[in-house]
Amino acid sequence: MSVVSVSQLKEHPGESVTVRGWLENKRRSGKIAFLQVRDGSGIVQVVASKKELSEEAWEAILEATQESTVAAIGKVNVDPRAPGGVELHASGFRVDHLTEEYPITPKEHGTAFLMEHRHLWLRSSKQRAILGVRSEICQSIRDFFYQREFILIDSPILTPNACEGTSTLFQTDYFGDPAFLSQSGQLYLEPAAAAFGKVYCMGPTFRAEKSKTRRHLMEFWMVEPEVAFLEFDGLQDLAEDFVSYIAERVLERCSENLRVLERDPAKIESITGPFPRITYTKAIEILQEQGQEIAWGDDFGGEDETVLANQFDRPVFVTHFPSEMKAFYMQPDADDPKLALGMDLLAPEGYGEIIGGSQRIHDHDLLLQRIQEHDLPLEAFQWYLDVRKYGSYPHSGFGMGIERCVAWMCGIPHLRETIPYPRMLYKIYP
Ligand code: 4AD
Ligand code: MG
Repeated sequence: MSVVSVSQLKEHPGESVTVRGWLENKRRSGKIAFLQVRDGSGIVQVVASKKELSEEAWEAILEATQESTVAAIGKVNVDPRAPGGVELHASGFRVDHLTEEYPITPKEHGTAFLMEHRHLWLRSSKQRAILGVRSEICQSIRDFFYQREFILIDSPILTPNACEGTSTLFQTDYFGDPAFLSQSGQLYLEPAAAAFGKVYCMGPTFRAEKSKTRRHLMEFWMVEPEVAFLEFDGLQDLAEDFVSYIAERVLERCSENLRVLERDPAKIESITGPFPRITYTKAIEILQEQGQEIAWGDDFGGEDETVLANQFDRPVFVTHFPSEMKAFYMQPDADDPKLALGMDLLAPEGYGEIIGGSQRIHDHDLLLQRIQEHDLPLEAFQWYLDVRKYGSYPHSGFGMGIERCVAWMCGIPHLRETIPYPRMLYKIYP
């Protein structure tokens, strides 16, 4: 009898099929049992009646425990009242592997316990809903750039230099020389923009952030586009189209996941352009009016980001930061060179900075000066300076943290549930 995945059962009305999966739940009243079988593609209810089964099959149903591996054989019964629109009427049942004492029971567990059992926790409906949204977001990112004819440039993970400052580098040994885990693929994308015009990378990035917040992971995934001849306003247009497209795709393809997560779709429907654009200086004024203790020249704290974002009904760009606060590579504003053409996109509802980006310095001598001012080792950046020596060009790009985007779309407060195996401060298990 052919094995059919739960998601495909609808295509086989009235047929006898086998479903292989794990027993999520079981309820019995006398000689009738209701079993929830999960196979990864979905969950189906199996209705089993003792009188329609062999003794062996009925025994297997009685014996089956939570998360045992099972095979249910039966007729597909299309019933609009059943979840997913189908049920299986059992004619056979088998336990392929009996699970004893599954640690995650239907009762409530604390997050620390669940994190210790992350490898098993992945099976639960909420975690599957979140990681399903993550998968859709990653696919929509690839589609967005593919449709716009960007070329994928995979950037290296082992690097000889820092991109986002030296304070959060993970160091390792590279045959006797120090090497670092990449904080960002940006520096490697910039040269590639001269080869292909529009490029992007998406991969894991690493920051030894010694802070324990719900918005920081040590290892997170970042997507970064970089575009030749794109200047600062166009960069914000690109980020706006990008985020709006992701929101649209999540709404279109993840409605069931959002339902499981009890996420109000209206929060995602409102993510459409144009997004408001305010300068850093204006943002400081707003924060001061709102009673935040912050002065011009200070970086935003998490709380500041939340207060600021709460003033708007959709994501907001903050632009023109003091150069000193920002990375060495940002292009100064022509009208006020103390300011950098950098932007942060802040998400509503307290999700904080989703995107960081900038126009890049394309003048060789200015970039050299910045590398020196930031005390960065010149030898490691020679190749990066080359880009400004041979056919330099204005260019811009940004980076979006995948986990922050997933948390926002799903409406969950902590990043740790948005990545299959989170790497957090002092925690690298499982
Ligand atoms: O603002 P960041 O540091 O920008 C860069 O790395 C640039 N080189 C990107 C570029 O222009 N190509 O980081 C970009 C985004 C942040 O807005 C945030 O969403 C995410 O990466 N991010 C983190 N996510 C999770 N945990 C952390 N520790 C993160 N640090 C940054
Ligand atoms: Mg940033």
